[in-house]
Amino acid sequence: MPKRFHLGWFTNFTACNWEATFSHGGSPWDGKFFVEFAQALERACFDYIMLEDTLMVSEAYRGAAEATLKYALQVPKYDPIPLAAMIGAATARLGVVATMSTMAWPPFMLARVSTTLDHITGGRFGWNIVTSGEDIAAQNFGMDALPPRETRYAMADEYMDVVNQLFASWEPDAVLKDRAHGIYADHTKIHPIHFKGEFFKVRGPLNTAPSPQGRPTYVQAGGSPRGRAFAAKHADSVIATANQVAGMKQYRDDVRERAVGFGRNPDDIKILYLVYPTLGETTEEAKAKHQRMVTGPSFIEAALAATDTTSDIDFSQFDLDKPLPRLTTNGEQGSLDKFQQWGSGKTLRQLASERFESGLNLIGTPDEVADRMAQAMEEIGGDGFLISTPFQRVTRRFINEVCEGLVPALQRRGLVREEYTKPTLRETLREF
Ligand SMILES: Cc1cc2nc3c(=O)[nH]c(=O)nc-3n(C[C@H](O)[C@H](O)[C@H](O)COP(=O)(O)O)c2cc1C
Repeated sequence: MPKRFHLGWFTNFTACNWEATFSHGGSPWDGKFFVEFAQALERACFDYIMLEDTLMVSEAYRGAAEATLKYALQVPKYDPIPLAAMIGAATARLGVVATMSTMAWPPFMLARVSTTLDHITGGRFGWNIVTSGEDIAAQNFGMDALPPRETRYAMADEYMDVVNQLFASWEPDAVLKDRAHGIYADHTKIHPIHFKGEFFKVRGPLNTAPSPQGRPTYVQAGGSPRGRAFAAKHADSVIATANQVAGMKQYRDDVRERAVGFGRNPDDIKILYLVYPTLGETTEEAKAKHQRMVTGPSFIEAALAATDTTSDIDFSQFDLDKPLPRLTTNGEQGSLDKFQQWGSGKTLRQLASERFESGLNLIGTPDEVADRMAQAMEEIGGDGFLISTPFQRVTRRFINEVCEGLVPALQRRGLVREEYTKPTLRETLREF
């Protein structure tokens, strides 16, 4: 039997693919499209759907919101939390992961809403821990600029301490529901935390009872050394972006080594690599589809503007037909590193056209793509893939291509799950 790997899907509560040929183009804001999307993922036995989030209308590209709004790049974007509740109520086995920023959410509120969602989903809720990466988002929360990465992660580490204490503020057997004596909870088993740190001061206890997982499954995407250390310390699953097998393997080996340094079993962390497959009935059809996309009239500009939103760097200042200077950011460094492919000598135009590639050549028939995923996973060592779409624009047609084409091809090879056997998301991730 080959070693199995995990599947997740990376999406967000945005305008879907309103302009695609095979899209009804209607409004997705009632959430029903996403519920059906999640149900399709559940039929295909995905471990989780991951709802991304950011908190701004980016003005990074050319210093204006024009491209962001013109191409609907991450805007409009609705709140993932109510959507996670809808999806959780309409599914039974799929993990539901939603993004919340430690910059935006007070820890008490985050712990309470996470506990609520973990109850609603019966233990399938995951929190994608982000610190936010844009000045303009910080300006929506009373700051003039984003704090430097070191400070953000120092705050996030303390934040984790607070929420972990809040999750533990009710002992697991505190709720008695003792009908004979009319006692709901044993108050001696529920404790204030009186947390006083450098950044947070929280009294506790939580005013919610412990949820099935005790705390949500923690998902994180650290790219920088500081971010990787954070992921290694806290995450149950890491969502990673890297180029080619070598980059993915290097990333995984590094995070696993850091996890050992924190006294953790590295097998408790499942690293899923972001990939954007293009599927067709034939190899030629898939290649033609991909070519049509990258040569579309607005693709290069939209790809650059989309990279600007996460790096806070204005790529319009660079010559499209020259290589980039080496860039760093206080925003998403890992995503920027993947984009800039430093040392490759590629021009900015080439980099933009490869914005949604992983270097694994996942363009082809379901069988071809399944074989390449299998080979890559074997060389990397684990733990799975996070499927996504360029600009997170998704159609039912693509969802079907993956769930009715690619996943069955992987299942026929014994590479991915064919059933759920565990009740909670953390246990599902740890099954293999
Ligand atoms: C697959 C993936 C998904 C991410 N999702 C979000 C998100 O939803 N919201 C957000 O603010 N940042 C998101 N990020 C950014 C990460 O939280 C992180 O800041 C980034 O990977 C850079 O790592 P660093 O913080 O160590 O520099 C995501 C990154 C990746 C690779």
